[in-house]
Amino acid sequence: MNVCVIGTGYVGLVTGVCLAHMGHDVICVDNNATKVALMQSGKSPIYEPGLDELMQSSMAAGRLRFTTDLKAGVEHGDVLFIAVGTPPLPTGESDTRYVEAVARGIGAHLTGDYKVIVNKSTVPIGSGNWVRQIVLDAIASQDTTHVDRDTLAQSFEVVSNPEFLREGSAVYDTFNPDRIVLGGSSQRAIATMQRLYAPLIRRQFSEKQSLPAIPVVVTDLASAEMIKYAANAFLATKISFINEVANICDRVGADVTQVAQGIGLDSRIGDKFLQAGIGWGGSCFPKDVAALIHTARDYGYEAPLLNAAVQTNQHQRLLALEKLQQMLKILKGKTIGLLGLTFKPNTDDLRDAPALDLIRELVRLGAKVKAYDPIVQPGSHAAQDERLAQVDLATTPMQLAQGCDALVLVTDWVQFQTLDYAAMAAVMRQRIVLDGRNALAPEAIVQAGFAYMGIGYSVDRPTVWGINVQPAKATVAALPAEQVA
Ligand code: UDX
Repeated sequence: MNVCVIGTGYVGLVTGVCLAHMGHDVICVDNNATKVALMQSGKSPIYEPGLDELMQSSMAAGRLRFTTDLKAGVEHGDVLFIAVGTPPLPTGESDTRYVEAVARGIGAHLTGDYKVIVNKSTVPIGSGNWVRQIVLDAIASQDTTHVDRDTLAQSFEVVSNPEFLREGSAVYDTFNPDRIVLGGSSQRAIATMQRLYAPLIRRQFSEKQSLPAIPVVVTDLASAEMIKYAANAFLATKISFINEVANICDRVGADVTQVAQGIGLDSRIGDKFLQAGIGWGGSCFPKDVAALIHTARDYGYEAPLLNAAVQTNQHQRLLALEKLQQMLKILKGKTIGLLGLTFKPNTDDLRDAPALDLIRELVRLGAKVKAYDPIVQPGSHAAQDERLAQVDLATTPMQLAQGCDALVLVTDWVQFQTLDYAAMAAVMRQRIVLDGRNALAPEAIVQAGFAYMGIGYSVDRPTVWGINVQPAKATVAALPAEQVA
């Protein structure tokens, strides 16, 4: 089928590239000419494992093109995906002006051939009908000579098809979704979408071909839009829940990692998204939970549980600061080394990353902040972020450790599990590791000479994971480097 994807952010680009890989003929449209030129040269503007390779192979096969020309894209596509950003406004509402502009553009260039317009961006509930009206308005003002306006108005349908891909595994998730959600009232439009996704539904592009077909949820527009918000709000609330349990574990001497395992084996709860840490971030959870709260408020409902999930998360983000204060007391003049900056591993994305809140507060309290991130390296595009202006970016973990009083693991990059912590300990001023994602093996960190602290278990307990962990007092009075060497 012929497909046009408008907007080449995470969702749009991954969708376009994956649909081209499935055999569809895809044009991706973006109004950023620099970005389009980069993609035309076969390079992805975002870091996403596997994306560059798929992009280049589909481009070589002639099934994937990039352009700034919306008219050419609209004329080409039987299916037109709207995948532009809906960033949050200060009120928590989504800023839908880019969706509006694209819908108007589509309406201005419709040809009379049947087209399905797909809302792929996470848009406020009710947006499907709103987009339809904008397209109709644009048709009404179209200076058409070849097709009459009534024919144009009958020539399109709007479908909601929310995206559930995670950054860092976006390509994998696109080929292996748990479900496909299609919202709309037109059978013809839904059938078109089912044809588009047929190879995916049959798992033709998955290593899991022996598994049953991927379930397709066909529903109305508003329910499809709500499914996206409810899914993200549920997952964010689940993390806030385990973080709250972790904070209680900290006080009563229980171990949240074992509690998570114990409750996660209950199939009604499930073992995913129960990793306690310094909170959720990224481009989706904070924005979508805020937007759902805002929508509820618009309809006279305060959504207390969702508000609490946000509050717990705000507290959790600064928990590392509280723990550092417990251990180091005065932070002024201390040097804190952050392992990881991005909101999660395998991405270069700093949007709403917990690290940024921590940096702001550490700097405010007079600490010197160093950081090492495998992707946010000095000179990289992500490193230009002004919120990193006061951070000393290291190029290696050893360079990070030099002169630090404590290391805080902020992002659970897998390579942080196997760093040479003994060598790092030797170049530090004081030896404290605060594992903000419970991602390290505490016994190995203790053996390397550190006082170790995680999120959600008490260091006062004599044994954790079968080894003696230094009690709180020893943690506060962490050994000076020369005594451990
Ligand atoms: C999320 C949803 O998972 C995805 O379905 C949706 O389409 C977009 O939003 P993403 O933002 O890429 O995806 O990240 P995700 O892997 O869900 O993690 C979000 C945040 O939660 C990260 O900051 C992560 O560190 C944190 N997290 C996740 C936890 O703190 N604990 C967990 O157990 C899981």
